[in-house]
Amino acid sequence: MKKKAASIMLAAGLVISAAPANVLADPPPPNEQADHAFDNKIIKKISPDRLYDRVALLSENPREAGTQGEYDAVQYIKKEFEAYGYETELQPFTFQAWDGGTPAIEINHISFDGDVHTFNGSVNGSVEAPIEHVGLATTDEVSDSVKGKIALIERGSISFYEKVQNVYDKGAVGIIMYNGAGQSGNDFGYTYEGQDIPAIAINREAGLSLVEQLQSEEVIGNVTVEDAGTIDQTSYNVIATMKPHKNKDTGQIVTIGAHHDSVAGGPGANDDASGVSGVLELAKVLAKTPTDTELRFMTFGAEEKGLIGSYHYASTLSEGEVDRIAAHFQMDMIGSRDAGDLIMFTPDGNKNLVTDLGASAGARVAEVVEYGQLGRSDHVPFFERGIPAALFIHAPLEPWYHSPQDTLDKISKEKLTEVTEIVGSAVYQIARPDTPALENARVAPGPVHYEFDDRPL
Ligand code: BES
Ligand code: ZN
Repeated sequence: MKKKAASIMLAAGLVISAAPANVLADPPPPNEQADHAFDNKIIKKISPDRLYDRVALLSENPREAGTQGEYDAVQYIKKEFEAYGYETELQPFTFQAWDGGTPAIEINHISFDGDVHTFNGSVNGSVEAPIEHVGLATTDEVSDSVKGKIALIERGSISFYEKVQNVYDKGAVGIIMYNGAGQSGNDFGYTYEGQDIPAIAINREAGLSLVEQLQSEEVIGNVTVEDAGTIDQTSYNVIATMKPHKNKDTGQIVTIGAHHDSVAGGPGANDDASGVSGVLELAKVLAKTPTDTELRFMTFGAEEKGLIGSYHYASTLSEGEVDRIAAHFQMDMIGSRDAGDLIMFTPDGNKNLVTDLGASAGARVAEVVEYGQLGRSDHVPFFERGIPAALFIHAPLEPWYHSPQDTLDKISKEKLTEVTEIVGSAVYQIARPDTPALENARVAPGPVHYEFDDRPL
């Protein structure tokens, strides 16, 4: 719909330059050339190579919150901000993490020497019983015979919750689960409150060999989980601040964020090394550009654990600061080659200052950007404090989302650059010293039409 409108307007000659399609509608389209001059200060300085290289560096290792991988990333981000000339703060906070303790399995009283992994949420305990293979553990497959036994389950098809519940309801005393076809490793598995039998994951190869063994003999298993439970862990937000030009301070603040943590075991090249690189690039190019607005560039920890870093940051803002923050831009997953178009998400599905600025900047840099409704990232805590906020992300998502395959080779330098340019232009429109005065002049970018889009994720 949006692209059609753009081409009709172009055909009607409403857009007067050969510059990228612009769907400026009401008020009358401003001068295109001036639009570009307006943004060039930022866009010309953005380096696609720098953007890409930072993603490469950050995605060398997983950055799960609370791990050394996160800490290394935090130190790198801080060092970069400082190298660009920013005063940079590390904001530590604690969160509850799962510690699987010591899991162990015995097969016929012989210690199993393969890799074992405690299910997240498993109770501690030790059980010894015959093992019964129950396939995928659907209700059809699980019979009363599993009572008093250790259930050997294949991962896949239904949720962890259902699998565990189905065997638990029939009286199983322990769980060994192996990966489904095409899945590697054994870092998986959840049990929930009330499902109080020890549960351990093994890899597919080990699982299939047990299945084979069970075809010819009874196998006695021993499943033990010791010292599992939640522990306090520390994660960090990294915050770099640029004060406005002294004589032109409007008192206004704009925040630009991404999350630096990844899921466990995932390199998180797109989620969200891409956004971190975008934040760093904008910090770099805006470092020496005078503004009338305070800019705060920040990367959050423990986003993947439940937006914990951004909730922490938002909770530290005073009422006065909240009133002064005019906009929060969140860049999350901005570089995937295999994802769809850029979209701006707000938690309530309403437009706000950030989406207005983003749509208009999009029209100047590439094409108008549409908006939709979604939480699921660090714009939520800002929104909940009443700050106009939006998430810049591509949808639908790539298939590599939250997987070990979220690697550098899936990153598109072009997408990474385009989103950074759009957010940079939007930020600069509000932060540059000659606005809002310029807003009444012919040279300032005007608003654009942009629409609600409920495309699937
Ligand atoms: N980058 C994603 C956000 C996202 C995922 C947006 C899918 C749109 C579609 C983010 O890192 C994430 O995975 N968030 C969690 C939510 C959070 C509360 C743990 C999610 O969506 O599961
Ligand atoms: Zn993310």
